[in-house]
Amino acid sequence: MPSQRFDEVRRRHANAQAGGGAERQARQHQENKLLARERIDLILDEGTFEEMDKLVRHRCRDFGMEEQVVDGDGFVTGWGRIHGRLVYVFAQDFTVFGGSLSEANAQKICKVMDLAVKMGAPVIGLNDSGGARIQEGVLSLGGYADIFLRNTLASGVIPQISAIMGPCAGGAVYSPALTDFVFMVDKTSHMFVTGPDVIKTVTHEDVTKETLGGGLTHNTISGVAHFLSPDDSECLRLIRELIAYLPQNNLDGPPVQTTDDPTDRQDPKLDQIIPDEPNLPYDIKDIITRVVDDGAFLEVHEHWAKNIVVGFARLGGRSAGIVANQPAFLAGCLDINSSTKGARFVRFCDAFNIPIVTFVDVPGFLPGTEQEFGGIIRHGAKLLYAYAEATVPKVTVITRKAYGGAYCVMGSKHLRTDVNFAYPTAEIAVMGAEGAVNIVYRREIASAGDPELARKEKIAEFRDRFANPFVAAERGFIDDVIEPHETRPRLIRALEMLETKVDTSPRKKHGNIPL
Ligand code: HXC
Repeated sequence: MPSQRFDEVRRRHANAQAGGGAERQARQHQENKLLARERIDLILDEGTFEEMDKLVRHRCRDFGMEEQVVDGDGFVTGWGRIHGRLVYVFAQDFTVFGGSLSEANAQKICKVMDLAVKMGAPVIGLNDSGGARIQEGVLSLGGYADIFLRNTLASGVIPQISAIMGPCAGGAVYSPALTDFVFMVDKTSHMFVTGPDVIKTVTHEDVTKETLGGGLTHNTISGVAHFLSPDDSECLRLIRELIAYLPQNNLDGPPVQTTDDPTDRQDPKLDQIIPDEPNLPYDIKDIITRVVDDGAFLEVHEHWAKNIVVGFARLGGRSAGIVANQPAFLAGCLDINSSTKGARFVRFCDAFNIPIVTFVDVPGFLPGTEQEFGGIIRHGAKLLYAYAEATVPKVTVITRKAYGGAYCVMGSKHLRTDVNFAYPTAEIAVMGAEGAVNIVYRREIASAGDPELARKEKIAEFRDRFANPFVAAERGFIDDVIEPHETRPRLIRALEMLETKVDTSPRKKHGNIPL
């Protein structure tokens, strides 16, 4: 009898391992997709995966389902390690009923999510699914809702990461959407609420699934996804890279990684990056990569709303969230998408105790009816709210322009930023000199003997008086005017000073960020 029981265990384990069978597995590979277990092997440190619920079975007795049972019911769930640190993981196996969500495998996901919250460790979902298991009806829908609830309750408690590595359609998209970071694989992953066929019927639009919800679409147009990878392996490698910057949970500090990059390293090349002419562009990433440890910058939302740059780096070994206006794109103006992008990133950092370093070069909010009709007021307020609310260490460097409301928004002293630096090239004013002179001196210029000369003189006078960092520094809104080459040591020393920061906000259930 015992040996029969042993055989039964082995048989069931083998059944789970085989998933939907060799034919479907071959099809998965032909479509340039890895199998669920192969993905888990790649994302975790070698040999660390501990599978749970491998023997769970679906309970559906309709549509001949009782004849079709795969142990584990297609989903592979459990825990393991990334860079030696605990993570929980689940992977949907497309070879078993198209990776569809049943009552049973929804419970498997909920189990690892509950453990992740109790243990305070990140949870990573590898999605590749045809959505709700059609044969199970409302039991499957209930399973989704159970997951959505857990995604919401775990938000801000543990990092939640989703990789889309196949289809993800209908209401199923809302679990990844509730998580902190969404990774997509180019060409093989798709996300949409309603697919091309339904769209054709309802709106008569012709659209391919790639255009509608491919990796490129969600990384460049919708902003739903934060990272785009050429294949499964690169996607999984990138998740490992991201995890290295994150704390395990909201009570943990950011991880520290030793570096050979000296904390007192100065970089004379930084003094030459910002052009003398205030309207010429430059790439803010040239400044970021010269300042941070080993030039390593993991950009988030790299392809969307490029007028703001956000991502993770380390300064003196400690993780920091970098937010920077990008003068090389839309002159670094804030618009609807960049405000939303910046706000979400700032709030992630604040929730997880990651200090925020802001580089400011912003001529203001993007003007125009498109922005106003789209609600730039509402969306711009998100970024303002996020900065004001954040209680993590905050350090700001104004590299060039800090005009108007955008000055206030971008980590100004007034929003309880701890240390504010400005370069000598900083221009802190209500607006650019040209615009200001046209408003304030319009009549005087018009009545001058040589209006053009008068305008030029007024612009020079205005720039001399206001378009500099000194008025703000004299008021203490700027703590120091620093030279670009000393940025790295000054930032590191400021962040070291802020390591023990404690700041609070009034007691409340939660605020009401403008959505
Ligand atoms: C049960 C499913 C399934 C599903 C696919 N399969 N989706 N089984 N429930 N939802 C099965 C297929 O029967 C097939 O089984 C196998 O998975 C592979 O599917 P194919 O269609 O052969 O694969 P492919 O051509 O690659 O197309 C993949 C697909 C398509 C685009 C995902 O299968 C599809 O459109 N499925 C339905 C998607 C859908 O409408 N889901 C409901 C969305 S609404 P065999 O045995 O032949 O291998 C939703 C609500 C969530 O999810 C609500 C949350 C609130």
